[in-house]
Amino acid sequence: MFAHINGIRMAYSDRGQRHPMALLLVHGFPLDHRLWAAQTAALASDMRVIAPDLCGFGQTESRPGPLSMETHADDLAALLDHLKIRTAVVAGLSMGGYIAFAFWRRHPARVRALILADTRAEPDSGVARAGRDAAIAAVQQSGAAAYAEEMLPRLLSPTSLANPAVVAAARKMMTAQPAAGIVAALASLRDRPDSRPTLPTVTVPALVVGGADDVLTPPADAQKMAAAIPGARLAVVPAAGHLSPLENPKTFNAAVRDFLTAVRRS
Ligand code: MLT
Repeated sequence: MFAHINGIRMAYSDRGQRHPMALLLVHGFPLDHRLWAAQTAALASDMRVIAPDLCGFGQTESRPGPLSMETHADDLAALLDHLKIRTAVVAGLSMGGYIAFAFWRRHPARVRALILADTRAEPDSGVARAGRDAAIAAVQQSGAAAYAEEMLPRLLSPTSLANPAVVAAARKMMTAQPAAGIVAALASLRDRPDSRPTLPTVTVPALVVGGADDVLTPPADAQKMAAAIPGARLAVVPAAGHLSPLENPKTFNAAVRDFLTAVRRS
C-alpha cells in the first residue's frame, strides 16, 4: 500500500486492521519493512501491525535535502494521521530505535508503549562518525551491494550465518536498497542526536530487546539502556545477532506478546 505524506509516496503494509491496538514497526539500516515479515504474520492475529518503508528505503521515495531521525519520526506521525490512528506502540530496531526516540520526543501523546530492539541511545563517537564518512565514500565508489556484503557478517549471529534462509533474506533486503538512500541515511546516522537524556523522560511502558550475539549493540548496552528507562523490561533473544526479529522470530515475538499483554492491562 502507498500513502502520500509530507511530499513523498510512502510504502507500508497494514494488517489486522480490525484490532484496536496498533503496532508500528520501524526498520533498521540498510533494510526495509520486510525485516518484520515474521512479526507481521504472527502478531496481526491480535493487533493491527503497520510496517512502513522509511524515506529512501524499499519502495518509499527519497526527498531532496538532509534526512534526520526527526524527519523520519514526522513521516511516521503523518502515516498514522493518514491511517486515522491516534496512538500506537512504536517498535524500532537499531536506526528504527533512534527514530523511536525522536518520535517520543516529538509526538509523545501518540505513543502507547515503546519497543527498542537492538539499538542504543548514544550518538556516534568521533571514530564512528569517521567510519560513516568512509562508508559514504565506499558506497559512492563501489555501490550499495558491495557495502551490504561487507556489513552482513556483522549483523547476524553465528547460528544465523549457518542458516542459508536467514542469510538470503537479509542479503536480499540489504542489496535491494538504493545507493542514494544508503548515502543519505549514513549521513543522518552520523549526525543523529544523543538520546541518553531522553531515556529517563519515558513515561510509557518500554521493552528493551536484543540478540544475545549482537556485536553492534550488545546485551550489556541493552541492559544499561533498560536500567535508564523507568520501569523498562529487558528481553535477550538467544541465537540472534543485530537482526533479532528476523533471526529468532519465535522468541522475539513471544517477548513482544508478553509485553503487550501487560501493556493492555496497564
Ligand atoms: C541499524 O541496524 O539500523 C544500524 O546498525 C544503525 C547504525 O549503524 O547505527
